[in-house]
Amino acid sequence: MRLVELFPAERATFFVHLFRSLPLRNDCLEPENGHDKNNEQECNRKNCNDQTDFLAKWERTGAGLVLKRYTHYLYNVNKVVSGTAMIMRQGSLDLLFEYTKTDSLRKHALAVEAAMRAYARKFGEDEEKWGTVGLLHDFDYEMYPQFPEHPMKGTDILKQHNYPEDVRRAILGHVPPMNVPRDTLMAKILFACDELCGFIVACAMVRPNKLADLEASSVKKKLKDKAFARGVNRDDIHKGIAELGVPLDEHITILISALRAVSHDLGL
Ligand SMILES: [Fe+2]
Ligand SMILES: [Fe+2]
Repeated sequence: MRLVELFPAERATFFVHLFRSLPLRNDCLEPENGHDKNNEQECNRKNCNDQTDFLAKWERTGAGLVLKRYTHYLYNVNKVVSGTAMIMRQGSLDLLFEYTKTDSLRKHALAVEAAMRAYARKFGEDEEKWGTVGLLHDFDYEMYPQFPEHPMKGTDILKQHNYPEDVRRAILGHVPPMNVPRDTLMAKILFACDELCGFIVACAMVRPNKLADLEASSVKKKLKDKAFARGVNRDDIHKGIAELGVPLDEHITILISALRAVSHDLGL
């Protein structure tokens, strides 16, 4: 088959197979799974025989050989990057769980992490870093609920653990009396997500289907009801949205879908 015959109809299919095969290839590349570095082609056929013959077609073309090498490179990069990210997140989770024993506060951390990750993806920013800011923004609160211990104690601990300055500064900025300017997009979004995540969770908890059918319009309606979730600071919510410059509806919709993605972890 000539290369031109594979384009464009099968191009999309190729990439679907390529990415679907990532874990397979990672497994295959493990020596304990019989990976033979000296005979990779044979090894791949032997261990990955449930892949379609699509890659095999490509292997018979010059471009296929190049792509095959590139995919091996991709598999390894994917493994290293995702492995590092997992280790980093686990370290932050350990820190959160060490200082925070309350289930609701742990869930709040996971909710704000999900919101930060959603915004990081939306703006093409560093998802791991933004997620960390969400996960750890209140990790000291249970132990040090008074201002300025929260957030000062927490950020001191984060400094001892070598968390970057912009992460600590964003966390300081989510507590208005600190008067630390929210001068990064990450800091602005943390402030805009924090109280609203709590509010959306409160809205979901009183609904039979929880987050599943919650819409921005219901959240907006509840925001006007001063008696509902009165602990949530409406002024901070509106201030955060104004600083961010995203329409309220859009912001709420982004957060609802971010929280839905982790609804199992949130018990919603
Ligand atoms: Fe806080
Ligand atoms: Fe918070």
